[in-house]
Amino acid sequence: APLALWGGRFGSGPAAALVDLSRSTQFDWRLAPQDITGSIAHAHVLHAAGLLTDDEVGRMVAALEQLRADVDAGAFGPSPDDEDVHTALERGLIERAGTELGGKLRAGRSRNDQIATLVRMYLRDQSRVLAGLVLDVVDALVGQAAAAGDAPIPGRTHLQHAQPVLLAHHLLAHAWPLMRDVERWVDWDRRAAVSPYGSGALAGSSLGLDPAKVAAELGFDAPVENSIDGTASRDVVAEFAFVAAMTAVDVSRIAEEVVLWSTKEFGFVRLHDAYSTGSSIMPQKKNPDVAELARGKAGRLVGDLTGLLTTLKGLPLAYNRDLQEDKEPVFDQVDQLTVLLPAFAGMVATLTFDTERMASLAPQGFSLATDIAEWLVREGVPFRVAHEVAGACVRACEEHEPPIELWDLTDDELAAISPHLTPAVRSVLSVEGSLASRSAHGGTAPVRVAEQLDRARSRAADL
Ligand code: ARG
Repeated sequence: APLALWGGRFGSGPAAALVDLSRSTQFDWRLAPQDITGSIAHAHVLHAAGLLTDDEVGRMVAALEQLRADVDAGAFGPSPDDEDVHTALERGLIERAGTELGGKLRAGRSRNDQIATLVRMYLRDQSRVLAGLVLDVVDALVGQAAAAGDAPIPGRTHLQHAQPVLLAHHLLAHAWPLMRDVERWVDWDRRAAVSPYGSGALAGSSLGLDPAKVAAELGFDAPVENSIDGTASRDVVAEFAFVAAMTAVDVSRIAEEVVLWSTKEFGFVRLHDAYSTGSSIMPQKKNPDVAELARGKAGRLVGDLTGLLTTLKGLPLAYNRDLQEDKEPVFDQVDQLTVLLPAFAGMVATLTFDTERMASLAPQGFSLATDIAEWLVREGVPFRVAHEVAGACVRACEEHEPPIELWDLTDDELAAISPHLTPAVRSVLSVEGSLASRSAHGGTAPVRVAEQLDRARSRAADL
């Protein structure tokens, strides 16, 4: 008969269909290293509580280390009869330490406090790896921003030309949210650094085991304050899932612009051959698949978060088996971000911008109309009037056949629109003039963007 962790009160073995339904080793086996590390810490507190002799704890830990080596080498793995990672590893321990000693490890702990702890250990490690990969995307954006210098692009709202901005300003506008995502993981870790081990099934342990000692050995700041909370809550997992989904969404917004900017119509950016794909039928094609996969995976990561929250929403305290469904969504998020972020960073780092085209388009579509209005305000005209006058300039341009741009209006045409519109207004009818005028903190003036670039660099270095 397969080794189960329960069975004493059952007359018959489990139905095959239940075994198939119940099994989780296909996804929770990745927690085997954390499970073994947790077991060693647990052996230490059993020893400290006098439940294992010096000799027993020595042999127990040696057997667990042997098991770890066998797992690492692929010499030991779950069998189809093992319900979960914990069951499989207890079988592995008993094979190595014997039934007598191996059977002592489980005292005072439950799979409920175990799994809650292992998931935190795993996600804490992964959050550091993922944060590093996000920072590689940030570095790529910051590098491109530095290379862009003072190159302007048409800044957009509603996807329509709005006001000229620096390409560097635009690229950094994608870098800051990603740095906040990294900050979110750092901040999340304070809440994740609390250990459920010692909570038992839900009520705590009667065997004199010290949860604080296990917590410290496993790298946590403290044990949980409440054993029910420790085994039944998954808000820490859900919060991780939110940060992962938010990161994917932030990456996806960059992706959408890369897709758009690399079209013939925009022609703002060229993808490196190494980060674009071809078509099996159309020989000319060069497709932005990295960006499209980023956009697609963002939907998937949001789905992972939504699924997890939906699993949690109706659960009574304490542990319910539904909670087994908490792992696949976050594991999927980890796996997707792990393959996506390096490709995305490479794609961003190797983009080539057509700065001439962007510069020539930057002032088109009447994107300097706001500059006329604000110039009038500096001349003492109320903004309400200034807005009307600048709008009339746009209308005058559009009445030409074909339409002209604002700077093509003659002095007479300007004067006819408003006596306030002297030829001096031409000083702001250039991209350079417009950019330089937006010189308050956080604005797109080249001096401010250069400072911002420095601050982005030092922020990224601090993370
Ligand atoms: N495999 C379960 C999980 O992932 C842990 C086992 C708890 N099972 C139980 N019957 N109490 O949540």
